[in-house]
Amino acid sequence: MDTQYILIDTRGDGPRRTGLITLNRPKQLNALNDGLMDELGAALKAFDADEAIGCIVITGSEKAFAAGADIGAMAQFNYMDAYKGDYITRNWEQIRGVRKPVIAAVAGFALGGGCELAMMCDILIAADSAKFGQPEIKLGVIPGAGGTQRLPRAVGKAKAMDLVLTARMMDAAEAERAGLVSRVVPADRLLDEALAAAEAINALSGPSVMMAKDCVNRAFESSLSDGVSYERRLFHALFATEDQKEGMDAFVNKRKPAFKHR
Ligand code: CAA
Repeated sequence: MDTQYILIDTRGDGPRRTGLITLNRPKQLNALNDGLMDELGAALKAFDADEAIGCIVITGSEKAFAAGADIGAMAQFNYMDAYKGDYITRNWEQIRGVRKPVIAAVAGFALGGGCELAMMCDILIAADSAKFGQPEIKLGVIPGAGGTQRLPRAVGKAKAMDLVLTARMMDAAEAERAGLVSRVVPADRLLDEALAAAEAINALSGPSVMMAKDCVNRAFESSLSDGVSYERRLFHALFATEDQKEGMDAFVNKRKPAFKHR
């Protein structure tokens, strides 16, 4: 796939590899435009469909994961441009629809749409240089790619209101304390740590990984009893897989499992 705004690569040498996507508009701090989002959507879709890929990592540059939607492109929009064009969010739901785990490896700025993109990922690993924020209010608008909804779910109302209404940035340590990121690592270790997490997931059973992701996401969309009942159905369903036989037999016989992803 020819790309202008992202780099696409694979990593790892096991039977299941990691799809690596690097946002690559360095001069604009990886500001998100439709071209970038279309390429990202297509790359995620292709990795999701590729049997040889177990996990996907999205990263940016040392300075910025992404500094938000491209303000230059939006500056002259009127209502109809924004509404009909559905700028940068027109394939947002496709990202949400990826069934394999997606890890965001965030260094530098993750602002506006950049923070919202990171929050769409399943595991968010931050470099100690990371800075998160929803500064759209300073532009006379509000977050438009899920920030007002996902941020409070991740960090609670108090901190979400603080960030959305004052536009202040949160550093990596505060983001970890608040529960926005799962781990903070030294900036020069960021990609290695994210790829190691991906490798660990690649070695597991694909069906159980996808169902686990599905169930955790369900927690944000359903009541507790509906979610627990959904989880139980999938837990029981996994007993129909070869990987459950393999995983439990390997444990009982004190050997390493060799999952077939079936
Ligand atoms: N869109 C377009 N260009 C951007 C950009 C953005 N979101 N963020 C940075 N850039 C560009 C700058 O215009 C600048 O370009 P030039 O060199 O051509 O002037 C280049 O990237 C470097 O930026 P700065 O010189 O500003 O770098 P800095 O280190 O001084 O500041 C920053 C970095 C604090 C991130 C600052 O660039 C900034 O505040 N950016 C805007 C952040 C923002 O408001 N994001 C929200 C966008 S709206 C949105 O995302 C809506 C949504 O929810 C969907």
